[in-house]
Amino acid sequence: MLDVDHIRSQFPILSRQVNGKPLCYLDNGASAQKPRVVLDTIQRAYAEDYANVHRGLHTLSTISTENYEAVRGIVARFLNAPSERDIVFTTGTTEAFNLLSYGWAAQHLRAGDEIVLSVMEHHANIVPWHFLRERQGVKLVWVDTAPDGSLDPQAVLDAVTDRTKLITITHMSNVLGTVVDVKAICRGAAAHGIPVAVDGSQAAVHMPVDVADLGCRFYAITGHKLYGPSGSGAAYIHPDLMAEMRPFMGGGDMIREVGKDGITYNDPPMKFEAGTPGIVQTIGLGAALEWMMDVGMDDIASHEAGLRDYALDRLGGLNWLTIQGHAPERGAIVSFTLNGAAHPHDVSTVLDKKGVAVRAGHHCCQPLMRHMGVSATSRASFGVYNTTAEVDTLVDALELCHDLFD
Ligand code: ALA
Repeated sequence: MLDVDHIRSQFPILSRQVNGKPLCYLDNGASAQKPRVVLDTIQRAYAEDYANVHRGLHTLSTISTENYEAVRGIVARFLNAPSERDIVFTTGTTEAFNLLSYGWAAQHLRAGDEIVLSVMEHHANIVPWHFLRERQGVKLVWVDTAPDGSLDPQAVLDAVTDRTKLITITHMSNVLGTVVDVKAICRGAAAHGIPVAVDGSQAAVHMPVDVADLGCRFYAITGHKLYGPSGSGAAYIHPDLMAEMRPFMGGGDMIREVGKDGITYNDPPMKFEAGTPGIVQTIGLGAALEWMMDVGMDDIASHEAGLRDYALDRLGGLNWLTIQGHAPERGAIVSFTLNGAAHPHDVSTVLDKKGVAVRAGHHCCQPLMRHMGVSATSRASFGVYNTTAEVDTLVDALELCHDLFD
């Protein structure tokens, strides 16, 4: 079982105050705080071991390259990917989906071909597909969530036609916390030979992920949500899909030979990593993932399930507040609106005065907002270091908000 006091002691920022109150950080869906081991790793990578990677034969470049490349194996272990060669480093999930869009879909999809996606996707898993719609006449086929915010895998599979070339779907909604049965979607899609790409930005933070078991062809994760540095991330890409991809960005490192009349490329996965990468960010990501695996993904998941249940219970008891989404399978993310005059931005401002950090707005999910009939929500998103006492702090601050506005 997870010792939350011990976990909290490893996050220096959690001992600071905000507006004279102890920080109650409930904006982990946007970005998580960093444990000391990640901060120390970043410090050491710059202070002791820093040089560019893959380029020099000198000692520091060799150490830096080894530290950087070791993270591929850590990511593979974290996602249970068969090989570290299946891991491409990115700056985050946004870059990962742009890589898939430019590097694979733009080459393989023609006008009239279809991409199936849910209305619950983050803009990172929408806008790159709109580019293909605008530029190549690809059709986006949207699958709605059910009224409770769940996504029926069969509804996704029912949207498949003989023009479907890709299904791209979130594993866990950053707004509703809904967990999607990606495995069932992958199983059904495999029968049609359709690849499934998964946005794992949120899910990988909260539960063990096994890409081999899911059967997906692509799975993207974001470092800064995984207690690692911003500007880091990775994608698992099945070798068959990777073999069909062209590089998306050109520059150093991703080539083997460059001449006046042509180029040849480095082997995958480096073929897809142009220029000096986020060396220290990626090394920091490795430290973060090792830390999460040491804490234990099952323990993280069960701790957060307790927070989720407690938050749903406490927030559900406020008759002037509406929880958005009640999917039976959900993680520790709760979006809500106050029934009276308070706009989510007002709520966020009042909560901040009490040291409580939540996100307010459309959460980069405008199609979902329209589908739900709201323009914005407040969102409390929990992480490994949060406590039930912080849920109480949130509820106390919301009660103040209710008194102020209604
Ligand atoms: N995708 C991030 C969020 O949900 C930024 O807040």
